[in-house]
Amino acid sequence: MRILSGIQPTGDIHIGNYLGAIKQWLLLQEKNECVFFIADLHSLTVPFDPKILQKSITEKIISYIAVGLDPEKSIIFVQSQIKEHAELAWILNTLCPVGELERMTQYKEKSKKFKDNINAGLLDYPVLMAADILLYKTDAVPVGKDQTQHVELTRTLAKKFNQKFGKTFVEPKAILPKFGSKIMSLTNPKKKMSKTDNPQSYISLFDTPENIQKKIMASTTDSGKQIKYDLTKKPGVSNLLTIYSLLTDKPIKELEKKFKDKGYADLKKSLAKTVIEFLEPFRKKQKELVTRDVYIKEILSRGKNRAQTIAQTTMQEIKEKVGLV
Ligand code: TRP
Repeated sequence: MRILSGIQPTGDIHIGNYLGAIKQWLLLQEKNECVFFIADLHSLTVPFDPKILQKSITEKIISYIAVGLDPEKSIIFVQSQIKEHAELAWILNTLCPVGELERMTQYKEKSKKFKDNINAGLLDYPVLMAADILLYKTDAVPVGKDQTQHVELTRTLAKKFNQKFGKTFVEPKAILPKFGSKIMSLTNPKKKMSKTDNPQSYISLFDTPENIQKKIMASTTDSGKQIKYDLTKKPGVSNLLTIYSLLTDKPIKELEKKFKDKGYADLKKSLAKTVIEFLEPFRKKQKELVTRDVYIKEILSRGKNRAQTIAQTTMQEIKEKVGLV
């Protein structure tokens, strides 16, 4: 199968992202042809700083390689370097009713948030995403739940194109994060862990051991003393147990037994140690990669070449079908 996903260039990556999504990508790249790219064109649709965009892109690439995306196994590149993404987006635009785009949940949310900058790109965002996906004849797209509507639109556009111009595209499926892998905020366990919140509420994959320790020890727990998984009565403790369980591959039941006669502080101490040990190799690798400028450039240049070969072939086929050549 061909698997593809895009990564926004901005923001920290936290353990919620790792356990919910990245872990799955690492498994997928073992047995499939995977394509991962930095969606820099998408990032232009909300306010951004052109002076730091390149730096954010490089940092993101380094972070993902540090946690295990493997340039030997996957195609890794930057979206704007392959002009066919924008080219195909234009053609798909002509098949996409404006009304469908106006109905998209993310568009509605972002137009509320960025009232002074409701640009056409923001509305068109899902069509560019459809182009990303279809250009590589992708079978499946691992994404967060907030992106499933966009993958649905991609299927609709693929179907329309196929009907109008002859069978060209696969209708891609979304692959959703596994059940039970939703990690909540450390300061408000009723809310999802998010990089746009206060840094105390999440653990970045590259946080220092001291910071990890502090954040976990200060995390919100619940009334009572018992260490038990109970989402309604004990959302804080349940969240800590979930993180613990996912990092150690130990079932929650076993952890409840382990901490049967212990208090919240014991759970937190033990979890902090586990998280620190788990993240240590990522931090080391990231530190090393930051100094290897040439190596990173090489990875991107190879990724670009591989992506381009596929993109140009598909685009040629599309142009022929549409009558542009
Ligand atoms: N919109 C996605 C997100 O915000 C990023 C993205 C861009 C993407 N193009 C894509 C994801 C294609 C999957 C496939 O997370």
